[in-house]
Amino acid sequence: MTRFRGGLVGCGFFAINHLHAWRDIEGAEIVALCDTDRERLEAVGRQFGVARLYGDVEAMLAAERLDFVDVATTVASHRALVERAAAAGLPVICQKPFAASLEDAGAMVDCCAHAGVPLMVHENFRWQTPIRAVRDAIESGAIGEPFWGRVSFRSAYDVFSAQPYLAQGERFIIEDLGIHSLDIARFLFGEAARLTARTRRVNPAIRGEDVATMLLDHGTGATSVVDCSYATHTKSDPFPETLVEVDGTQGSIRLAQGYRMTVTSRQGSVTSDVSPRLLPWAERPWFNIQESVHAIQKHWVDCLRSGAEPATSGRDNLKTLALVEAAYRSATDGSSVELDSAA
Ligand SMILES: NC(=O)c1ccc[n+]([C@@H]2O[C@H](COP(=O)([O-])OP(=O)(O)OC[C@H]3O[C@@H](n4cnc5c(N)ncnc54)[C@H](O)[C@@H]3O)[C@@H](O)[C@H]2O)c1
Repeated sequence: MTRFRGGLVGCGFFAINHLHAWRDIEGAEIVALCDTDRERLEAVGRQFGVARLYGDVEAMLAAERLDFVDVATTVASHRALVERAAAAGLPVICQKPFAASLEDAGAMVDCCAHAGVPLMVHENFRWQTPIRAVRDAIESGAIGEPFWGRVSFRSAYDVFSAQPYLAQGERFIIEDLGIHSLDIARFLFGEAARLTARTRRVNPAIRGEDVATMLLDHGTGATSVVDCSYATHTKSDPFPETLVEVDGTQGSIRLAQGYRMTVTSRQGSVTSDVSPRLLPWAERPWFNIQESVHAIQKHWVDCLRSGAEPATSGRDNLKTLALVEAAYRSATDGSSVELDSAA
């Protein structure tokens, strides 16, 4: 069986999860690492036993024989790195947020299409076990046709100590976290035709918004509320769980804290445990996200092997990014933003 050889660019906080997951995926191996921060590069190289280390992506691409590139840097460098990988003829994975603007994202998609290389956005939240359980329950038909939903992420977890850049950007929660919740709303309820958003900043120590409430009108006729907050103090903080509610014509689904999913249908109510697996390298409370990193990277390898387009391809992610842009526009001018991607 082919073992795809990958080069990973960006050895920061989240790349550690990528690297653990790559070690567990039989069909791929990270053979080279790249980071502009030499100290970090060497430390991560030692931690994962990768000896081929580069301070510059050009040098890595020139010296290595790679089958794909995994970009795990922050957004400012995404476009240049993805375009560089495409120019070298290499399939490429790009962390979220895909790009700083829709224009950049469109250019990245076009560039990879012209080069004939697959492009996947590392949009992992829809790969979480509990989120897939909700989607399976919808698809089983048990609750009939969904007409209303809610995708909710509310916490007071201190994300700023591990990711200090999150406190500094003009944009925060929609671009960083809401982007995942909007992608889940698309995954569960289909494309949106209109979006209305309201935001606010509660934490005075950060620049961007830390609370957002978004209302989506889906092409199917369903309505969903996507809400996120890093200013919500509760007795038992659910971080990093996304809670989901779905009402259908024949029943309902409730994904509650503690990974408990209740499906109520004409047959009655069934509650099941939809907890993610605690992978050997994972830790609480992050294990839900860590398992989804493994799942999306395994999907990438399956797609490389079969030639199928990844579920969260660059092309697909343009629709999630369009919702992010629509949310900021709506929150700024008070309008409801029409979208042209509704199916
Ligand atoms: N999907 C998730 O659940 C999740 C969670 C956390 C972070 N993320 C995303 O992961 C990305 C990385 O976040 P992070 O917190 O690990 O950031 P980080 O700042 O800890 O790490 C980024 C690393 O990239 C390096 N880098 C930057 N530009 C480079 C370049 N041109 N060439 C080589 N190296 C370069 C930096 O030196 C740094 O080591 C972000 O886009 C973030 O949104 C995703």
